[in-house]
Amino acid sequence: MKRVRFILSIAVLLAATSCTAQTETDKRVDELLSKMTLQEKIGQMNQLSGGAELKNEAAAGNVGSILNCTDVKAINIVQKAAVEESRLGIPILVARDVIHGFHTIFPIPLGQAATFDPAIVEKGARISAVEATASGVRWTFSPMLDVARDPRWGRVAEGSGEDPYLDVQMGVAMVKGYQGDDLSDPTSMAACIKHFVGYGAAEGGRDYNSTMISERSLRNTYFPAFKATAEAGAATLMTSFNEIDGVPSTGNKWLLKDVLRGEWGWDGMIVTDWNSAGEMIAHGFSRDLKHTAEQAVNAGVDMDMMSYGFIQYIEELVKEGKISEKEIDRAVRNILKLKFELGLFENPYVDETASARVDYAPEHLEAAKQCAVESAILLQNKKNVLPLDKAKTILVTGPLADAPYEQMGTWVFDGQKEHTVTPLTALREEYNVIWEPGLKYSRDENTKDFAKVRKAAAKADAVVVFVGEESILSGEAHSLSNLDLQGAQSELIAEMSKTGKPVVVVVMAGRPLTIERDLANCDAMLYSFHPGTMGGPALADLIKGKAVPSGKLPMTFLRDAGQAPFYYNHNNTGRPNNGTETLLKDIPVEAGQTSLGCTSFYLDTGYGPLFPFGYGLSYTTFEYGAPVLEKAELSENDVIRVSFDLKNKGKYEATEVAQLYVQDCVGSVVRPVKELKRFERITLAPGETKTVTFELPVAELAFWNFDMEYVVEPGDFRLWVAGDSASGEPVSFVVK
Ligand code: BGC
Repeated sequence: MKRVRFILSIAVLLAATSCTAQTETDKRVDELLSKMTLQEKIGQMNQLSGGAELKNEAAAGNVGSILNCTDVKAINIVQKAAVEESRLGIPILVARDVIHGFHTIFPIPLGQAATFDPAIVEKGARISAVEATASGVRWTFSPMLDVARDPRWGRVAEGSGEDPYLDVQMGVAMVKGYQGDDLSDPTSMAACIKHFVGYGAAEGGRDYNSTMISERSLRNTYFPAFKATAEAGAATLMTSFNEIDGVPSTGNKWLLKDVLRGEWGWDGMIVTDWNSAGEMIAHGFSRDLKHTAEQAVNAGVDMDMMSYGFIQYIEELVKEGKISEKEIDRAVRNILKLKFELGLFENPYVDETASARVDYAPEHLEAAKQCAVESAILLQNKKNVLPLDKAKTILVTGPLADAPYEQMGTWVFDGQKEHTVTPLTALREEYNVIWEPGLKYSRDENTKDFAKVRKAAAKADAVVVFVGEESILSGEAHSLSNLDLQGAQSELIAEMSKTGKPVVVVVMAGRPLTIERDLANCDAMLYSFHPGTMGGPALADLIKGKAVPSGKLPMTFLRDAGQAPFYYNHNNTGRPNNGTETLLKDIPVEAGQTSLGCTSFYLDTGYGPLFPFGYGLSYTTFEYGAPVLEKAELSENDVIRVSFDLKNKGKYEATEVAQLYVQDCVGSVVRPVKELKRFERITLAPGETKTVTFELPVAELAFWNFDMEYVVEPGDFRLWVAGDSASGEPVSFVVK
């Protein structure tokens, strides 16, 4: 069998180049390293949370990096202690969780993924870097690349959703944006790809939980975004909290040394997650803190975030021969190299006036708005109720309509709510607005104001209800077992449906919620993952028709949380959907024993999800012509070229995210029913038709097969081009 082998050849190539060229930076690193005492080396491997109070630690050379300080004066105080008072003057590296913006807040990463627009995502990351570096932050703990298929997990908000290919595109865009062309540019911020690995597969969506992921599934599903961003030059990587098959990532030598360093040849810096080394004690993998340091360093970790184990015990461990000095030099080399690359030795200090010049700059707000426009997904639009271009007076209601803090979403430490523009404020520019909140916050169960809202609706041409989640309900440690709208929000929507007025619902949330009953009670629904600083103007433009929705779902939307985990690119069972599902209501009383159609479905929610991955409507309709393959028989070095006509059949200029899916029909191991392989945003004028061509090298059909080799297996394939993962008619091709 002919095989396409990538990994080994790339690893060999990388190893070869890294052996030959000793760069200027390497020389500087070696020279500095040769002057360092063991204790000074260990100090570099220690990351602490705090600000000016750490200046004595910095002067003593006991800390290599700090996190969670954005007070530029305090940063300069710690930096001065490190640079001017420590024996070797090694600068401190300042880190922060800049996850979806620094001051100007962009939509949460899941919302950014819904844009299917790597260019706007890269721009957002660049702007984040410009603002954060002006406040002294040169290292962000982003992007989060954890493939997540269970919306109960609160951290779905922080990633790109369920699909490995989309994850790759978004992750690479963010790394490029943060790091710019040259790390030494003062506006460049080192990226940190996290959490390596499998963190998103936590059992039952319960944060920090165990994962059982086979090596093949790690390689086919969870590794690709890490590998692609590592190849794109991501400077650092964070280990994850979870264990995989019994081994916590922070102590997993196979993951860090064999795969990351060995196979991929990646030479960046590895940091633990917050006390993830220390937590190996609770896991029952380490005896005590000293043991955690031994296991983490020997597994390949370079820097410890907040367990204090490295700083306390490494010296002893080296003396006892449990950690070799070679391991320590490896770690410190990676840390120093990054500091040299960032130009910290040349420019250690922050200009204390810089942030005032860049924060919330008009072009930053404009980009944040564009990203929010592109990230909103139109899920329903009965009788083309949206856009509300004719309405003059609208009733605005719901707890998220004027919640400047909540609409920024999770992991926002630096964005200020005073700068957020809410939908209420923005809609007032467009309409005569009657404002009745109805509920004070998303969990509010008090319906006493509903009568007032009903009365107000009588005076309006249309009702717009803003519901969703407060920002604190998603993100780290915010798992939920029930994904319905909280509090009395669904009741508020139901009340509005009785008014006889057109009802538009806008959901602003950190995750896919189960909104089936709410859809039944409204005419139109726009789903906006927490949209950030400029969410209000973006949504107002969409509601008014000044902009047309183009977002697509980055995760499957469920009917009920009980369906989770649920994702489009699953393997087939031996009993796939055959359209014969029997639902509870169809089962007669005292029914005889039968297995009711014998397929893989729920008696209450059936076979399918509420909305498939990739789904999203527009104010126009797009017609896909049949895909035409240039060749139906290809060899492993060929490029698949498939063309189709895309027609805008409506009266709005609009953008469609066309998607290309492939199925490898028979494999040495079972292959997913469909996999996203390409997508493109295509803008068409009313009535316009464009012939679109996707190109996909056959080599990109490779996967980790039965023999755990990365190969394209010859055989039959099917291909779809469509507006979502559940549409389109397939065409077939063969790889010889
Ligand atoms: C999170 C990381 C984060 C770190 C530092 C941890 O709790 O899991 O994603 O980067 O804290 O704030």
